[in-house]
Amino acid sequence: MLQGKNIILGVSSSIACYKSAYLARALIKKGANVQVVMTKNATQFLTPLTFEQLTGRKCLVDTFDRNFEIKVEHISLAQWADACLIAPASANVLAKMAHGIADDMLTTTVLACDCPKLAAPAMNTRMYENPATRENLETLRRHGFTLVEPEEGFLACGDVGKGKLANEEVILDYLEAVIGAEKDFNGQRVLVTAGPTREALDPVRFLTNHSTGKMGYAIAKAAFLRGAKVTLVTGKTETPKPRFVDVVEVVSARQMYEAVMSRASEQDILIMAAAVADYRPQNIAAEKIKKMDGDSVLPLERTDDILASAGAARRPGQFLCGFSMETEHMLENSRKKLEKKNIDMIVANNLRQEGAGFGVDTNIVTLITKDSEESLPMLSKDEVAMKILDAIAARIKE
Ligand code: CTP
Repeated sequence: MLQGKNIILGVSSSIACYKSAYLARALIKKGANVQVVMTKNATQFLTPLTFEQLTGRKCLVDTFDRNFEIKVEHISLAQWADACLIAPASANVLAKMAHGIADDMLTTTVLACDCPKLAAPAMNTRMYENPATRENLETLRRHGFTLVEPEEGFLACGDVGKGKLANEEVILDYLEAVIGAEKDFNGQRVLVTAGPTREALDPVRFLTNHSTGKMGYAIAKAAFLRGAKVTLVTGKTETPKPRFVDVVEVVSARQMYEAVMSRASEQDILIMAAAVADYRPQNIAAEKIKKMDGDSVLPLERTDDILASAGAARRPGQFLCGFSMETEHMLENSRKKLEKKNIDMIVANNLRQEGAGFGVDTNIVTLITKDSEESLPMLSKDEVAMKILDAIAARIKE
């Protein structure tokens, strides 16, 4: 999502400077072009050479340096940038940016930037809590800055409290949230289901499946990045929850049904990627079931079909997308589900294909609607998520 994006990484004076070297490297790995601008004081902590080696670009410190590959002036640099990220942002630099003070390369560049600006403060807790800093942060927020709050923890000065630079993943998530995608789902409410359900047998056992929730989580994240207000209803999984979405955690098919149906009517789009159990044990034993001699049979009863229930209760204009996991007759079976469940699109995948299905980071899917079929090559689940949203956006437009 940051591929080809031009990022100014502003580095101001803090012991957390070394973390911006990791940040620069992570941005480069994501395919971004990174131009580091340091304050003079920051060079006491880390040398410009470190960033030059990591980014392949001359690190800027001096406003009057003319020896640079793109035009040196802070103005042309500001025009080049898709985003300007100041991490770490010291109390001093925050104060200057809040008041339009431009007395070095970093602050002049920031003042000239009209691209999205983000700041990740890092400082001692008392400096962070000082009313002057609080006011400066509020001013910056009002001026349109996205602030990535520092974390609490053990600080370099020995204090424990808020002031640690937010971790790399959090900063990158914020950056992606701001510039990662066109906001073509702005104002849309999207509900996504993901992960497996667990159907209890007794206090120690349950029936479930191999779903890790990765596909649904990727869709929830992509929908958020594209501007939607996202609710993610998820079964139990180890997959890290996407940031910025409203997460509703459930365990059983019954709980997922209730979580979805109580919210369905408010949604514009429902995308059901969860692997919901079709059957649950008829009775949940109150105590652990003890083994007996001989074999045993487990009576099962049907769960509610959540997607079909949402399809039956759908309101005009609502878009419903389901998933279909098959091991044979994928297209034929998936088409049947599309009709039976009264939905607009079904994303079919074949568990037998390598690179598709549970647990892996890729998927191979076919997007099926009443009058179309689009087979996609093997893509990362993030890419598949974007393609699904592209298809939904196109259908909604129609
Ligand atoms: N689904 C659901 N509630 C269920 C079962 C499935 O909402 N009780 C949804 C899934 O989230 C998915 C779609 O229905 O979006 C199809 O799921 P799948 O397991 O492929 O098909 P089933 O309808 O369960 O049919 P079968 O198991 O016979 O293939």
